[in-house]
Amino acid sequence: MRLTIQVALRAAIARLDGAGVDAPANTARQLLSVATGRPREWLLAHDDETLPDAQAQTLESLLERVAAREPLAYVLGERGFHGITLKIDPRALIPRPETEMLVDLTLAALRALPAGAAVIDVGTGSGAAAIAIALGAPGAHVIACDVSADALSLARENADRLGARVTFLESDLLTNVPDLAPIVVANLPYVTREEIDMLPPEIQAHEPRVALDGGADGLDLVRRLLAQLSGDAVRRAALRHVWLEVGASQGPAARDLAQAAFPDARARILQDLARLDRVIAIEFES
Ligand SMILES: C[S@@+](CC[C@H](N)C(=O)[O-])C[C@H]1O[C@@H](n2cnc3c(N)ncnc32)[C@H](O)[C@@H]1O
Repeated sequence: MRLTIQVALRAAIARLDGAGVDAPANTARQLLSVATGRPREWLLAHDDETLPDAQAQTLESLLERVAAREPLAYVLGERGFHGITLKIDPRALIPRPETEMLVDLTLAALRALPAGAAVIDVGTGSGAAAIAIALGAPGAHVIACDVSADALSLARENADRLGARVTFLESDLLTNVPDLAPIVVANLPYVTREEIDMLPPEIQAHEPRVALDGGADGLDLVRRLLAQLSGDAVRRAALRHVWLEVGASQGPAARDLAQAAFPDARARILQDLARLDRVIAIEFES
């Protein structure tokens, strides 16, 4: 029987829907587009054409992985972030759009700081935020650290491919980071132990546990980072802005921790585009 694009698409949607995959229609269109090498608009306009055997096989192998609840970004091997395309694989967390806020805040703040100002991205994962900052502010000195050697190897590959100048360091938070910086950003693990067991299989079974587990209340790493930043007088004196991404339910608790760590600074909660608490901003007098 002739397999048309339309029939293949309908079958793919039904299969992904049956497997419990989120946004099955959108995901099926994306997979069909990858398998055929054609944009979605082309597929729509030619949906009565036959799908060649080789493309049908490619679609089948992609569908098999996504229906088994492997994350789409790992299956495709890439993810867009702040206008760049990052190579993505299970060595690091898949960057989320919410984290683009850390980049926007940093790029805006760098405009008011002297050229060559330093930025530290703590827990860089795939390098997403650090690389987007380095590309958006080529004069800045961007340092990125992570406790995971796997994540750092992916981050280095991404920086090389995209021509971003970033200094990468393996470090437990700031322990091995000698540099001082006026800007520190971090999207550290903030999922609570209880929540981890309720995450969808794409996340729970595939994304690195070290990128998710934030301890009993999700704020273990935030607490430790605040202690490192506030406990070192020299590092503390260099700070102008700290932006910490947190979970939507953690805003007030994280803000209070930040305010207690830095009583002389101003700590506040910033919301994301979905109007959820997302980032703790700590601003220091210059
Ligand atoms: C939620 S992921 C975020 C990754 C990246 N910032 C992003 O937004 O895509 C948290 C990252 O923090 C790293 N991490 C966890 N514990 C750490 C620690 N003690 N010191 C440094 N990095 C840590 C993980 O390896 C992971 O890459």
